[in-house]
Amino acid sequence: MDKLVIEGGIPLKGVIPVSGSKNAALPILFASILLDGKTTFTNVPDLRDIHTTLKLLNMLGCSCQFEDGTVTMQPTQLNPEASYDLVRTMRASILCLGPLLARLGEAKVALPGGCAIGSRPVDQHLKGLEKMGAVFDLNEGYIIGRCTKLTGAHITLDMPTVGGTENLLMAAALAEGETQLENVAREPEIVDLANFLIACGAKITGHGTSTIRITGVSSLSGTTYAIMPDRIEAGTFLVAAGITGGELLVQNCPWKELDAVIIKLREMGMDIQQTSEGALAKAGEPLRGVDIKTRPFPGFPTDMQAQLMSLACLAQGPSIFEESIFENRFMHALELIRMGANIRLSGRTAHIQGVKSLIGAPVMASDLRASASLVLAGLAARGTTHVLRIYHLDRGYEYIEKKLGLVGARIRREKE
Ligand code: UD1
Repeated sequence: MDKLVIEGGIPLKGVIPVSGSKNAALPILFASILLDGKTTFTNVPDLRDIHTTLKLLNMLGCSCQFEDGTVTMQPTQLNPEASYDLVRTMRASILCLGPLLARLGEAKVALPGGCAIGSRPVDQHLKGLEKMGAVFDLNEGYIIGRCTKLTGAHITLDMPTVGGTENLLMAAALAEGETQLENVAREPEIVDLANFLIACGAKITGHGTSTIRITGVSSLSGTTYAIMPDRIEAGTFLVAAGITGGELLVQNCPWKELDAVIIKLREMGMDIQQTSEGALAKAGEPLRGVDIKTRPFPGFPTDMQAQLMSLACLAQGPSIFEESIFENRFMHALELIRMGANIRLSGRTAHIQGVKSLIGAPVMASDLRASASLVLAGLAARGTTHVLRIYHLDRGYEYIEKKLGLVGARIRREKE
């Protein structure tokens, strides 16, 4: 297993590029199941979750190759079974359920288990697909779904689930007739998925709002499509500039998609300007505490909560963080405390009192964004930080130590 070793305290300076979005690429790659013909995807990040997805798609009968950020995909003889071996390593595997049912009328997908940040049920995915005519059984840990032909339906989600919206959107694209999805998630990655499906011939309106309307078509054809930049990676780099007292030009930084994060970083005292290349972020002094409540888009993203907490640990004054999306997403706080942070946890709320400095320590990453927050804390801390279990980080941050190294960080990968 690898770890990252970071010598902290160096202000990061220079240009840091943003890769393609993991959370947009995953559903878009799964949407290949719906297509006739070859598709080429560009700006695909070289990440563990992407390779897991490609492996799964290969097993489902989509022959795919990854080279230099480009994936070529050709569905051949589709098969409906997504095995537990792969699903258990990546919860997003559930995104093959809707496309398999729409395309084959059957699907056998291992039920993803709990994960470090909460129980994460998939009831909304199943309820929506049932409304479209699918019938489900649970057998030996597998969801087994069948239908003759999915038909359009009027579906109102109980909560705006990102994955649920994506599964239903993909299923409805090939269903017979009209589907209206209400109370759906509005995340930019859903807009990217809808734009991809439209480029393949789907009829979709309202993506990016809470009601999406889809008129099913009988077939979708392959195309060439560039994945949007990763707003969470970009947000993490903005924080890296702030926490190290540096100055970074975050190249290709999505701007309006990061609005809620930029507002909070500016409130903390950071100077962030939009430029023709992306976003120029400077520390600004001194940083002030801030209050945050995570919410579905366009609210503050839960995927940036951990990284902002590291910054708040070094800001002047108190901060209050409330996590309203996932029930167990403060694991990083316990590790930050080991580095000298002053954080008190109470259920879904964290009270943070800024300290003057953090001190390097061996820390353990528990999930993807928690890992990023520990890397950020390590970059700012006095002394050496060892971030253990970075396989989480490799799921979502492309060439992280290389990118940070190029803007001055002293960071290296070692065997644990
Ligand atoms: C996606 C993102 C993840 C992000 C999350 C919230 C991907 C691959 N992952 O995860 O990075 O943190 O959105 O922005 O895009 N829920 C139910 N029933 C369901 C579905 C969800 O109760 O059927 C609940 C979940 O337990 C959670 C909340 O809804 O409390 C939001 O989950 P959801 O939006 O579905 O997250 P994911 O799609 O899993």
